[in-house]
Amino acid sequence: MNNTIRTIMAHRSIRKFTPQPIENEQLQTIIQAGLAASSSSLLQAVSIIRVTDQAKRKLLAQYAGNQAYVEDAAEFLVFCIDYQRHISINPAVQADYTELTLIGAVDSGIMAQNCLLAAESMGLGGVYIGGLRNRAEKVDELLELPQGTAVLFGMCLGYPDQSPEIKPRLPAHVVMHENQYQPLNMDDIQHYDQTMQVYYANRSANQKQSTWSQDVTTKLSGESRPHILPYLNSKGLAKR
Ligand SMILES: Cc1cc2nc3c(=O)[nH]c(=O)nc-3n(C[C@H](O)[C@H](O)[C@H](O)COP(=O)(O)O)c2cc1C
Repeated sequence: MNNTIRTIMAHRSIRKFTPQPIENEQLQTIIQAGLAASSSSLLQAVSIIRVTDQAKRKLLAQYAGNQAYVEDAAEFLVFCIDYQRHISINPAVQADYTELTLIGAVDSGIMAQNCLLAAESMGLGGVYIGGLRNRAEKVDELLELPQGTAVLFGMCLGYPDQSPEIKPRLPAHVVMHENQYQPLNMDDIQHYDQTMQVYYANRSANQKQSTWSQDVTTKLSGESRPHILPYLNSKGLAKR
């Protein structure tokens, strides 16, 4: 164990923050940590919109499905795929391939995680807000995103005003395969379901009675934001 690994392993999403602001120097370090991340072909197809306007925050909290912490967090960052810069450099660039949208999404995730870990290493906490994609077009309009640029997710950051337990993950041997894909052993899933049941039952806030299997089945039983493809297409992305 070193301090980096300790920070990584101590992660848990924070959804309640004290009013204490994040110092500008800290924020700059968090962003620099994000910029230091790997980037596919160094395309750097990411933009971050820092939302300081409280009226906009209020709307974003609503668009995300009434997630109050979007309004309350010291900082709220919106991560976007961004090919507008490349289009500005040369309007002839072909930024509408799905491959490039994947690159923008992967780069954004990697950059965001660097930001979150940097923040967590300073004693701050945060949570990703994929809920912004519930109303992607409204978010897009509010933030005046140009062609080639599309909203992916937000991130709340601030000083934690809660101390939730670390959420158990699938065991490594289920996730990591060697040389070839290993068939799933349902006993492993049953065991993890029991672990999650105990975790949910013992959790101080938001106790619930369900298993991981039940949760993921529910999540994947309905539509998954079917408006996203037409939204991306409307931004000139993921067209072919
Ligand atoms: C891309 C992404 C989007 C997420 N969106 C939300 C969200 O809209 N609201 C929320 O409360 N948590 C959101 N989360 C947090 C996850 O629910 C959380 O990471 C997961 O339950 C594991 O918990 P932990 O982060 O505390 O370990 C999101 C996480 C990721 C990676």
